[in-house]
Amino acid sequence: MKVLIADRISEKGIDILRNYAQVDIKLGLKPEELISTIGDYEALVVRSQTKVSAEVIEAGKRLQVIARAGVGIDNIDVEAATRRGIVVVNAPTGNTISAAEHTIALMLSLARHIPQANAVLKSGVWRRSDFMGTEVRDKTLGILGLGNVGSEVARRARGLQMKLIAYDPFISIDHARKLQVELVPLKQLLKESDFITLHLPLTDSTKGLIGAKELALVKPTARIINCARGGLIDEEALAKAVKEKRVAGAAVDVFSTEPATESVLFEDDNIIVTPHLGASTTEAQATAARDVAEQVIDVFNGRPARYSVNAPFISVETLSVLAPFIKVAGNVGKLVSQLIEGQMNAIQIKYNGEISNYDTDTLKAAVLGGLLEEISEERVNLVNANIVAAQRGLNVVEQKESTCENYASLITAEVTTSAGVTTAAGTVMRGESHIVRVNNYWFDIMPTGGYFLLSDHLDRPGVLGAVGKITGDADINISAMHVSRLKPRGQALMILALDEPLLEEQRQQILSIPDIYTAKLVKL
Ligand code: NAD
Ligand code: MLT
Repeated sequence: MKVLIADRISEKGIDILRNYAQVDIKLGLKPEELISTIGDYEALVVRSQTKVSAEVIEAGKRLQVIARAGVGIDNIDVEAATRRGIVVVNAPTGNTISAAEHTIALMLSLARHIPQANAVLKSGVWRRSDFMGTEVRDKTLGILGLGNVGSEVARRARGLQMKLIAYDPFISIDHARKLQVELVPLKQLLKESDFITLHLPLTDSTKGLIGAKELALVKPTARIINCARGGLIDEEALAKAVKEKRVAGAAVDVFSTEPATESVLFEDDNIIVTPHLGASTTEAQATAARDVAEQVIDVFNGRPARYSVNAPFISVETLSVLAPFIKVAGNVGKLVSQLIEGQMNAIQIKYNGEISNYDTDTLKAAVLGGLLEEISEERVNLVNANIVAAQRGLNVVEQKESTCENYASLITAEVTTSAGVTTAAGTVMRGESHIVRVNNYWFDIMPTGGYFLLSDHLDRPGVLGAVGKITGDADINISAMHVSRLKPRGQALMILALDEPLLEEQRQQILSIPDIYTAKLVKL
């Protein structure tokens, strides 16, 4: 496996990856360089600088996982990755404390003019009167977004004896109560706060959330801190509000365009800026790098990643039960895809027995993966199974029943096409994958990655011998034979495991044997 690290991450993560894969570190690649390089790699690790666009994802033909060593995934086209079945992981908690501490540092710097005083004194001027500050005690801190970082800011601000209010419609009142934070509407927060701090993700609904209209509601003594994402605040409007003394000051760690070497926010002394340092601590970088490195290895090993942003979470307990069935599910899908005729329009997946008690998303993805593997360029997996099925207009219905005749668990795929219904079912026995049903016939074959000839015929003397003569004359070795019949001398299905593939010419010879109706060669 090859891993490309495109932004600087801690050695702690690199060491973990090196034990498992070839790791190339290529920092500061231009978009076109990344596009021409990424095709060689199974994993891409970035922080916020590298833009992982749809073009990069398209060029990453071997990519299995994109890892973001940090929280924000706004530099990654997650939708494009999801469509291609690429797992996107991040490290949502590794830098939370560092970001919260940086927020508090900026808030106190704003309250006490520390950067400005430092600069003036170092220029040789002793000027105390210009830097009259304000206490934060008893002041109101308005927190926009009470998630990981917002909550840690609240805990620290509580220690500074501040009054806490927050705007976050997506958290529970109970969570806010535990933090001793009062949840309020956005307008109220803007009007009442002495300090306003943003801890929101950058999404379509939060982009430009704080613009001129919102800043007009803020007290002239208020100070604003943005340690989340640049695009959340209209930078021009903020600079103007501070310049016109409608807002007392601002501290900004993040910019709408990064790296930012010039900005309207650099022009005013009452605006403090830092170059995206929220997560820049040894501790945060080590934790974030370790978190993503471990997840990259998990994905390489087919295990669910702890912080995948585009694949459902599967508990270790569920996985330990379902893991052997993932292979069966894939085999069932693969078999059906080789047997069907006509236009595919619906698939029903049935889970019987013990497996029906678990979340079966992985099994569904594996069935669809097997089904579409041969007929699509796309890699279908847990990440994109639903999307791919929907794109193809394939109606997928799942059914669970706790009862199961003859087996502890059974997984059945029933595909409806314009030509009719084709069914295959499989189970796990002694840890191995077994196909036990094709249409109405029950038997037991073990997929080996080899060839099988499936032939519907009439059960009568001489049919099997005639088939054996054709394969024998063609020097094709039969390693196993299974026959299942509905009744003696009735409809039957023969499955021959072949050591060599059957040529079309021999298949046609078999089809010309009287009472043989079908002859399908499948690879399983
Ligand atoms: P989080 O997902 O834990 O919290 C975000 C909160 O915002 C959630 O509680 C969510 O309910 C809320 N939210 C989402 N949309 C909202 C909306 N439209 N209105 C109101 N609330 C909304 O994320 P986090 O880990 O706390 O990170 C917060 C932000 O800080 C992210 O943008 C992250 O990228 C950024 N961050 C920056 C640094 C840095 O170096 N400056 C470090 C860490 C995190
Ligand atoms: C994050 O989203 O985690 C931060 O912005 C820090 C970083 O970019 O690494």
